[in-house]
Amino acid sequence: MDIKSILELKNKRKITMLTAYDYPIANLVDQAGIDIILVGDSLANVVLGLESTTQVGMPEMLHHTKAVTRAVKNALVVADMPFNSYQINPQDALKNAQRFIEEAQAQAVKLEWFPGCIAVTEQIIKSGIAVMGHIGLTPQTADKIGGFKVQGKDAQSAKNLIGQAKALEKLGCFALVLECLPDKISELITAQLKIPTIGIGAGIHCDGQVLVINDMLGLFDRYTPKFVKKYANLSPIILEAVNDFKNEVLKEKFPAPEHSFTIKEEEFKKIDER
Ligand code: KIV
Repeated sequence: MDIKSILELKNKRKITMLTAYDYPIANLVDQAGIDIILVGDSLANVVLGLESTTQVGMPEMLHHTKAVTRAVKNALVVADMPFNSYQINPQDALKNAQRFIEEAQAQAVKLEWFPGCIAVTEQIIKSGIAVMGHIGLTPQTADKIGGFKVQGKDAQSAKNLIGQAKALEKLGCFALVLECLPDKISELITAQLKIPTIGIGAGIHCDGQVLVINDMLGLFDRYTPKFVKKYANLSPIILEAVNDFKNEVLKEKFPAPEHSFTIKEEEFKKIDER
C-alpha cells in the first residue's frame, strides 16, 4: 500500500487500519491484509502500562515503529507523533517527523489536532512527508477539550470539526482519523472530503475503521471504550498457557525427552567428575 492506493480506495471499498507496536503482531496484521498499520501512541496505555499517551516520547515511538516496519511487507505504516514532538514549533516538528521516515522507515506520520496544528502540518507536508490528521477526541490534549468525551455533540462544536477537517484536507493530509464523533457528523465530514476518513467510535459512514489491536484481541482490560469490539479474548488463553507451564515445571513434566538434548553414553562415561 502507498498513499496513492489509500486515496483510491475512497468510494470503492472500506479501508482497514489497526495499531501494532511490535514485530510479531505487525507481521500477523500485515499477513491478514490490513491496509494501514498505525504505530499508535496508545502504546503508552496498552503496552507500557502508563496512564496517559502524553507519557510516551520520541525514543519509545521510534523504537516501536522500527520493530513494526521490520515486519511489514504490504501495509502502509503510519507513525503516531507523540505529545510535545510537534506541539512545539514547525521546525522541530518537522525534524521529529523526518526521524520517523528516515530512521524508522514509516511511510507517514499522524498528528492530533491542536490549536497550532495548521502551521505544523503545513510545514511537514511541504517537506514531502505524508500526514494523517486526527480530529474529534484527541487524547493528547483531552484535558483541553473536556476530557475523554464524544466531540461534536452540539451544532457549534460539530461545525468546528467540519472546519478542521476541511482545513486539514486543504493542507494536503492524505487521510483523517475521526475519533468519537456522532455518526451523522462523521457522515457529513466523510461526504464533504475527497480524502478518506478512518473512524474510531465515529460510526459506520467513515471510509474506513481503526481499532487498537490490544483492545480488539482482548489483551487490555483496564478499561474498554464503548466503540471497542472484542474479536478475540486472548487474555484467558495466555493465562491458561502460563498456568500449564507453571504446573508442568512444578510437577517435573516439562521438559519432556523430546524437548531435551542427549550425549552419547561412551562420551558421558569419560567425564571424570562423575
Ligand atoms: O494511538 C492510537 O492508537 C490512535 C488510534 C486510536 C487512532 O491514535
